[in-house]
Amino acid sequence: MENAEYLKIRLSSIHPQVPVTFDVFISVSDRMIHYLRAGGTLEAEKIENFEKKAPDNFYIRTYEKAAFKQYIAHLMLSEELSSFEKATLLRESSLALVEELYESPDIAAALNESKEVINEFVELMDRDSDAMGHLIGLSSHDFYTYNHSLDVGIYSLGLGQVAGYSGDDLRELGQGALFHDIGKRHVSVDIICKDGPLDNVEWAQMQQHPQFGLLILDKYEVSDAIKACCFEHHESFQGNGYPQQLEGHEIHPMARIVALTDTYDALTTKRSYNEPMTPTDAISFMNEKLKGRYDSDLMAAMHDILFRMEKAKKAV
Ligand SMILES: [Fe+2]
Ligand SMILES: [Fe+2]
Repeated sequence: MENAEYLKIRLSSIHPQVPVTFDVFISVSDRMIHYLRAGGTLEAEKIENFEKKAPDNFYIRTYEKAAFKQYIAHLMLSEELSSFEKATLLRESSLALVEELYESPDIAAALNESKEVINEFVELMDRDSDAMGHLIGLSSHDFYTYNHSLDVGIYSLGLGQVAGYSGDDLRELGQGALFHDIGKRHVSVDIICKDGPLDNVEWAQMQQHPQFGLLILDKYEVSDAIKACCFEHHESFQGNGYPQQLEGHEIHPMARIVALTDTYDALTTKRSYNEPMTPTDAISFMNEKLKGRYDSDLMAAMHDILFRMEKAKKAV
């Protein structure tokens, strides 16, 4: 249901035992029905039950978005929650916000809001060294532009951190990664959602999304690095990428990170016409079949990321 008055949220962005500070609604036959009132608490079984029946049907009022974000920010500081719980809550709550970034007609507001989203991730990573491993392990493997963008954002923050980025640079990288496919707003929905490989005409339009993205971002006060993440994420180290056929070090360092995490996410994501690869298979495939397309130091750093993810998985 498209309704500007309501914002879709994932029910798993609400923690059982912690009372909500906003009303939660469920959409039934196009009507919004109160599911939980501010001050109420969800029971774990109730979450599980509803998530199975109607995982995509929960909403808050748009004007209560600030309360929702504050609720999450507060949970991130709780000493009672584990790294895994925090990573789950942050990822699930951010999906709602990233979906809005990609749908919102107000791009200036979306760009601003993305700073807050990325900031929460960077702060969690700074406070809790295990969180990154969990965040990466939680990637959805479903392909929707906003899911994909959030996953590329998270992978890029992880890879960026290993590559030595921190503070404002890391935030800038995260924002660039979150918006790397913003140009897909101008590609026809039929092409984006096509249930199979694209034909030549469709492919030509799809390949224009870096330019479309740059045209969008050029209208706003956005750093060159963020624009580069958008415009250069399909360039290849060998010079056979698009749209500019840049080579190796001509590609912006942040765009090199996004190019790698973008491909990694595509390979490990389920599309209707192919099965997802496991993380290890995806890295082997990129090292062997796509050899030379990516920065080799960054490819090596990806092993470190996967190691952290495995370690985090075992710790849960
Ligand atoms: Fe792209
Ligand atoms: Fe992408």
